[in-house]
Amino acid sequence: MKHASTDIDIVKSTTSKLDSVDFENLKFGHVFTDHMMECDYEDGAWKTPVIKPYGKIELEPSAKVFHYGQAVFEGMKAFRDDNDKIWLFRPDENFKRINLSSKRLAIPEFPEEYFFQGLEELLKIDKEWIKKGFGNSLYIRPFVIATEPGVLASPGASYKFMIICSPAKSYYTGEVRVQISEKYSRAADGGVGAAKAAGNYGAQFYPTNLAKEAGFQQIIWTDANSHEFLEEAGTMNVFFRVNDTLLTAPVNDRILDGVTRKSILSLAEANSIKAEVRRVSVKEIIEAAKNGSLKEIFGAGTAAVINPIQGFGYKGERYELPKITDSYASFFKDKLMKIQYNLAEDEFGWRYEV
Ligand code: COI
Repeated sequence: MKHASTDIDIVKSTTSKLDSVDFENLKFGHVFTDHMMECDYEDGAWKTPVIKPYGKIELEPSAKVFHYGQAVFEGMKAFRDDNDKIWLFRPDENFKRINLSSKRLAIPEFPEEYFFQGLEELLKIDKEWIKKGFGNSLYIRPFVIATEPGVLASPGASYKFMIICSPAKSYYTGEVRVQISEKYSRAADGGVGAAKAAGNYGAQFYPTNLAKEAGFQQIIWTDANSHEFLEEAGTMNVFFRVNDTLLTAPVNDRILDGVTRKSILSLAEANSIKAEVRRVSVKEIIEAAKNGSLKEIFGAGTAAVINPIQGFGYKGERYELPKITDSYASFFKDKLMKIQYNLAEDEFGWRYEV
């Protein structure tokens, strides 16, 4: 898939931060590459995208993003293979999703050719930031914000679409134990849970802090109506393995249609792993933990790829998962990463060469 060519203005940085970065000890999302893409929406149209040195942007304090949270984002990654080719993983999914998110937040949709050409140009200019080696990647963060000044509670008339990039090794480290939420939910029916809206993530910080105070690293969100069903884990989709069956909740207007989630489901099918996409109750997972049939829980998302969960807490009780060697989590992570790094056949056509 290649996209129609368009005009992009390019202003190159005269200096580079590359030499000052310790690529072996990267903190996730902390350092940004030398350039960024910026495209403004004014008078009913997206203007010519610009690639320019990474730097501050100027907004009025009354810009609507600050007051009404009109902001959406994406998370993607680029990889360098052993032959120095640069690859993206299913970028068409991120493009589609940012526009779905934008639509839900009353933000004008972004043109496909601007998205792909801007992204590809940016990656070409900053390609030295994408390091070789399994596990190294460039985390790409496209986002859109409402820039129109004024506190009238209505959709902005002007917006800024941007792409910034950050070299990454891995997202989460260490053992993860999660608290199953009895009170807080990530999203509600008819809400914005399916959108990658900035506010969905900001609203997670307080309940997550409470879970941390109780000795957990993350939360498993339960549904807002009954708190009886498991929906997502932290910022990720969540999978359970009961005996040899994989379980995950169906996507709907509360649950994000994760690219990693859907890739895992395709890989499960191709590898004859039974997967059930259905509501998963707290009760059945606790029963499975008690009778030993709960083998694994893991989160799935672009940043962490797959994040195994070692235990969980619910209503004051703690449950530990068995340590297993042939985990689905490592099977899927290995399969996915080998496709991403061009180390395995791309049977689904997920790789996209830059
Ligand atoms: C992702 O896995 O890409 C996420 O959404 C996590 C992000 C909020 C850092």
